[in-house]
Amino acid sequence: KKNRRPLVLANWKMNMQPEDVAPYLDVILPEVEKDEDADVAVAGQNLYLAQMVQQSKGSRLAIAAQDAHWEDKGAFTGETSPKALKAIGVSYVMIGHFERRKLFNETDERVNLKTKAALKNGLKPIVDLDEDLSAYDGQALDQVELGQLKKALDGISEEEMQNVAIAYEPTWAIGSGEAASAEQAEQSAALIRASLANLYNQDLADQTRILYGGSVNTDNAASFFKQEDIDGILVGKAALNPQTFLDLIDIAQ
Ligand code: G3P
Repeated sequence: KKNRRPLVLANWKMNMQPEDVAPYLDVILPEVEKDEDADVAVAGQNLYLAQMVQQSKGSRLAIAAQDAHWEDKGAFTGETSPKALKAIGVSYVMIGHFERRKLFNETDERVNLKTKAALKNGLKPIVDLDEDLSAYDGQALDQVELGQLKKALDGISEEEMQNVAIAYEPTWAIGSGEAASAEQAEQSAALIRASLANLYNQDLADQTRILYGGSVNTDNAASFFKQEDIDGILVGKAALNPQTFLDLIDIAQ
């Protein structure tokens, strides 16, 4: 896979009570240390992030935010500053998750602004796409440019792209228990990679990590990692159990 390191990301969403956070990390931290062949991150609610960073300090576990604003500071009640996230030690930030787009009116323009702001602050964005890719069926791969991807990355340089990962989550697969087949997921990832090559160049496309998300579990995870263009998984429900998340990390190696 052209030396792309696997990335395994747990998205807790708005789950976990305060008392669940430390025990979860206690279970996974010693094991993550041994898993040197994959990058591992956990995205918690904002109010847990500082605690998660503290507990995982010096380890290989990275902490992720589930969203961040496009400005560093200001009168934006209820929002979270990417600058502040970086300052407390957060590494990754998810941008444009399906639930943000659908329930919180996240637009392509905001996804773009937020991605730029994350990069400016030294956070690594994971740009989440949920576009129905069947619209591109039959299009020549050397011409395809995915709308959501193109808008999200507008104005982002090749150099900045070194720190960007793309996640693809078909809307019908999120939380439904019905994952895409490995072939479907690979087709989507290949389309995204072709689009990256057309928007930038083949080298950049070959370096960029592309994740699949949507009802990933211990039964189907291996089939995704076998695919040429899938470099990681973005896991919701199955990752709420730390032991299951560890099993998924093992599968990634
Ligand atoms: O961000 C990951 C998520 O949207 C997928 O959730 O529960 O289908 O694994 P789930």
